[in-house]
Amino acid sequence: MADVAITGGRLTLACSTCEYSRRHLSSGPHLPFASIKPAARIGCNRRRTTNPVSTSSGTRGRRRMAMIAAAATETLQKGIAELYDESSGIWEDIWGDHMHHGFYEPGSDVSISDHRSAQIRMIEESLRFASLSDDSVQKPKNIVDVGCGIGGSSRYLARKYGAKCQGITLSPVQAKRAQELAAAQGLADKACELFQFQVSFQVADALNQPFSDGQFDLVWSMESGEHMPDKEKFVGELARVVAPGGTIIIVTWCHRDLSPGESLRQEEKDLLKKICDAYYLPAWCSTADYVKLLQSLSLEDIKSADWSEYVAPFWPAVIRSALTWKGITSLLRSGWKTIRGAFAMPLMIEGYKTGLIKFAIITCRKPAS
Ligand SMILES: C[S@@+](CC[C@H](N)C(=O)[O-])C[C@H]1O[C@@H](n2cnc3c(N)ncnc32)[C@H](O)[C@@H]1O
Repeated sequence: MADVAITGGRLTLACSTCEYSRRHLSSGPHLPFASIKPAARIGCNRRRTTNPVSTSSGTRGRRRMAMIAAAATETLQKGIAELYDESSGIWEDIWGDHMHHGFYEPGSDVSISDHRSAQIRMIEESLRFASLSDDSVQKPKNIVDVGCGIGGSSRYLARKYGAKCQGITLSPVQAKRAQELAAAQGLADKACELFQFQVSFQVADALNQPFSDGQFDLVWSMESGEHMPDKEKFVGELARVVAPGGTIIIVTWCHRDLSPGESLRQEEKDLLKKICDAYYLPAWCSTADYVKLLQSLSLEDIKSADWSEYVAPFWPAVIRSALTWKGITSLLRSGWKTIRGAFAMPLMIEGYKTGLIKFAIITCRKPAS
């Protein structure tokens, strides 16, 4: 069963039958899970335990809601693709090929040149947290980078493990650039197939991945989960494509965990709404919501941590780089979506400072058989 709500003039679906697997779809960025008020009820794909009523008007209603939800997802994903098509070149120019936070010592003073190594450290700390093995037999050999940007993680992981890596993104510009960089670094070469570290990229949807079940021994999602309008489907796809015994690593933006019955305060919802509008994000969820979704799929060794204190220097550094001559001129040459994103950067700092936004890592393994 799903609740239907109009929030801020936008339609939202939220499954109310299954406590942890509520679906949230809207025609664009909108408010977090907890803000959704039931206004009508329609069916969802989970089995109800009581009072199942099926009518032809109910079926028509469901079909109509599904069509509206699909259109809403399409609109959101078009916005995401355009944002990254427009902004990826500028980011690469100033920051390089990793489009994610760095991992810093808390309270450390960092110079601009430290940021790239902090981004590499983020990858290494994530692998360490998930207890990934460097052992030649156990190390990953087949990796998927879900929401790959211009492929920074894909190339790094492929090189580190001597593995094959496939990246997917919604942005055609990113996929093309990622492939060019891989080719320039000799990683896309056919000959590399012999050594098992061929890297490739394509435009594809993380919610409907073009891969077979159990194909990858490492499923990597670095700062893409926040863009997913249906967290249940997202996590379900990660769990589907991971091989038995394989590892899933999700590093993502979350809102703070909520106590039972608690919802975010109005000022918190307002702040998230502004961030959603700027970065093409749908409803946020908490780290605990992710953990519950993974538990519902019977995944093992589920671990999570709040790394907010380790990423604190990141956004101030991005703002400083945007305020340089190069940053300002690049922004002026970019499009409106990139400029709006730049204006929203202080909101991320405010979110972290107030404890509303959490930088989360969640990892788990699929049972070996
Ligand atoms: C902040 S960037 C992170 C890029 C990369 N993981 C990195 O760390 O450099 C977010 C990425 O998520 C991708 N993304 C968002 N929604 C997606 C979806 N539904 N399917 C595939 N990729 C998606 C975007 O296209 C973009 O490449």
